[in-house]
Amino acid sequence: MTTTPSVAPGRLIDRFPPGFAWGAATSAYQIEGAVHADGRGPSIWDTYSHTPGMTEDGGTGDIACDHFHRLEEDLDLMASMGLGAYRFSVAWPRVQPTGSGPANLKGLEFYDRLVDGLLERGIDPWLTLFHWDLPQPLEDAGGWPDRDVVARFAEYTAILVERFGDRVRNWLTLNEPWCIAMLGYGIGRHAPGIQDWSAALRAAHHTHLAHRAAVGAIRAAVPDARIGVALNLHHVEAATETDADRAAARLHDGTANRWFLDPVMGRGYPRDVVEAYGPILEGIDVGELDTGTLPVDILGVNYYTRNVIRAPRAGEANAPVATVMTRGGLPETEMGWEIHPDGLRQLLERIHREYAPPSIAITENGAAFVDEVAADGSVQDDARLAYYRDHVTATAEAIEAGVPVETYFAWSLMDNFEWGFGYTKRFGIVHVDFETQQRTIKASGEWYRDLIASTR
Ligand code: FCB
Repeated sequence: MTTTPSVAPGRLIDRFPPGFAWGAATSAYQIEGAVHADGRGPSIWDTYSHTPGMTEDGGTGDIACDHFHRLEEDLDLMASMGLGAYRFSVAWPRVQPTGSGPANLKGLEFYDRLVDGLLERGIDPWLTLFHWDLPQPLEDAGGWPDRDVVARFAEYTAILVERFGDRVRNWLTLNEPWCIAMLGYGIGRHAPGIQDWSAALRAAHHTHLAHRAAVGAIRAAVPDARIGVALNLHHVEAATETDADRAAARLHDGTANRWFLDPVMGRGYPRDVVEAYGPILEGIDVGELDTGTLPVDILGVNYYTRNVIRAPRAGEANAPVATVMTRGGLPETEMGWEIHPDGLRQLLERIHREYAPPSIAITENGAAFVDEVAADGSVQDDARLAYYRDHVTATAEAIEAGVPVETYFAWSLMDNFEWGFGYTKRFGIVHVDFETQQRTIKASGEWYRDLIASTR
């Protein structure tokens, strides 16, 4: 059924080293549903999505893809696509319904079934400890801006490593700490919907400390674990070559990339950004991250688009979050994000050149488009297929330039709850009919399946 590809998968695949792993990614709140099952407690995303006006279509994760009840079917689906790896997240409120105290065994058992089901099918589990669904009681106690969250996260991590350390080798601590802090507590467009830049920077600081605590806990309990973090990193370009635009782009690179990358890679906070943030860092011991960082084995990179940045115009605030613009001329996804695969190559080469992590995984890459379901149920999503082909090609180019990329995860395995956009944006390589919960592999998913199959 696959049409379009101008590069035959057979040739593209030959540009990847033996052992390169192909996977797909999801997160708990976006797919599981079953928000009251087996003693799960509420998370900040339950609260936020149930607050009128917070999601575009009023969507919530109450049912989502009903993955919790369709686990076996979804595992078979992954196997039918030949996936070698699956990146999922554990819902903290299933494991600790109030965010602290003893483990809820029923909650752990769901992930036992998931992990065992993956292993039985030869799919390598990549476990993300936290993909945004903070237990609501922890938010009520101060959330990420409160330092106590670090101890709570360490306790939660210890429960997971004890339970899954015998079967899970690849561990990612946090998903996109920039989003946790800046979207959740600064802009307020994600749960818990707070708008307070000082709180956002305290939140960011505590994500660093939580990451560090988790790396220590995993390393101690699972000596052969491969540990990383999934950062949303950007290829940044200045809108023009004026000094003002170049300075704005440099600052954005600092706030969005280096504020997260530098401490994780053992360099502490970038001093130019410390200076730029100034008073809103009050109360944060910025020097605390200069030492004591534990190295990661894998750097997880989530990439969707490039960021073109211009200087704020007269009257516009120089906010901690810059306005990302498009240059025009390039096709865009349904999110309004420019399709710029070469940005992925440039980003990967830059990370390798400037930070040299031992290994890089592309932990998310993908695109939202409006999908048309044909009468026979099929989805010919040529634009998404082309997006994948071109970003996989960019990944091959980075590898040829010497960048140690080892794994690629498509975002996402299936259409799901896209946070503030509810169900209005589809990112899946598998189509989900949210009325019937029917799954149908899209043309992009068939292309991906064929690409993977051509390795053998
Ligand atoms: C990333 C998130 C992921 C998904 C994609 C589209 O920022 O990590 O959950 O929403 O964007």
